Amino acid sequence: MASMVSVQGLSKIYDDGFKALDSVDLEIEEGEVLALLGPNGAGKTTLISAICGIATATSGTVTVGGHDNVRDFRAARSMIGLVPQELTIENFETVFNTVRFTRGLFGKPRDDAYLEKLLRQLTLWDKKDNRLLTLSGGMKRRVMIAKALSHEPRVLFLDEPTAGVDVELRKEMWDVMRDLKGSGVTIILTTHYIEEAEAMADRVAVINKGEILLVQDKAELMKQMGKKTLTVDLDAPVDSLPDSLAQRGVELGADRKSLIYTYDTAARKTGITDLLADIRKAGLHLTDVHTKQSSLEDIFVGLVTEDAA
Ligand SMILES: Nc1ncnc2c1ncn2[C@@H]1O[C@H](COP(=O)(O)OP(=O)(O)O)[C@@H](O)[C@H]1O
Ligand SMILES: [Mg+2]
Repeated sequence: MASMVSVQGLSKIYDDGFKALDSVDLEIEEGEVLALLGPNGAGKTTLISAICGIATATSGTVTVGGHDNVRDFRAARSMIGLVPQELTIENFETVFNTVRFTRGLFGKPRDDAYLEKLLRQLTLWDKKDNRLLTLSGGMKRRVMIAKALSHEPRVLFLDEPTAGVDVELRKEMWDVMRDLKGSGVTIILTTHYIEEAEAMADRVAVINKGEILLVQDKAELMKQMGKKTLTVDLDAPVDSLPDSLAQRGVELGADRKSLIYTYDTAARKTGITDLLADIRKAGLHLTDVHTKQSSLEDIFVGLVTEDAA
């Protein structure tokens, strides 16, 4: 499938000499939700600014819908909707006028039917005649999205759409994003919330210190790197771990009353059956067993720490 956005060898060195992006390669497919996950200062905003043509790259190329974002800036930019990190909206205008005005800035002919459809999709239609300053935070965020989509772009960039918002509003924004994806918009969202990447993304790109450390299908990522731990609770504490269990890589819990076994969920044989048999042979009695799937968080922390080492 052809890429909607293609980033090749993109580097950005700021005027003070700081290298914020280091030869980034990234392909974004039409219709997908890509989460660009990284800690604060990783280069997320710099990367999307460079893709959108707001920041000039030091080297490398970007195409959007096949248009080079420097040589063919207007064509590339017209395919892009960008919701910046901060809320930046004029206060006294009405919702409908604001969105219509933004569409005009892109040189698009007036199309109130499209804007009505868009505002309805974002559940803003009721508020179309309200002045922006009367809206709640969640509604203001929706207006930012409506503005970004006013010129019918194919790709929507959301820079930290839920940073600093409460849980309820975060869930509301997730619903909005799912809905937009359903209507075929390609979405790139940056986030430092792992749970957001986990909830929203088809693919996850991890960025740290200006470098893309990994780009992978989310489910694949969790399957490949996902480990599960099995904890076996014992009826009485043990002094030391029997050899047969130690050889299997089992560890004794801090309470000395539990055994911890980590296994690969993708492996053909997990070794659990043999493990349980060995526990019985060692004369231990279990009272309970439970498993825990490792999350994207474990994977992310692993990657970023490895990188720091
Ligand atoms: N205009 C600038 N001049 C110099 N350094 C900058 C500038 N903008 C951002 N940076 C630095 O580049 C790095 C990446 O910033 P940014 O892209 O905003 O990260 P993120 O969005 O992932 O938090 C940070 O270390 C930041 O301090
Ligand atoms: Mg940022």
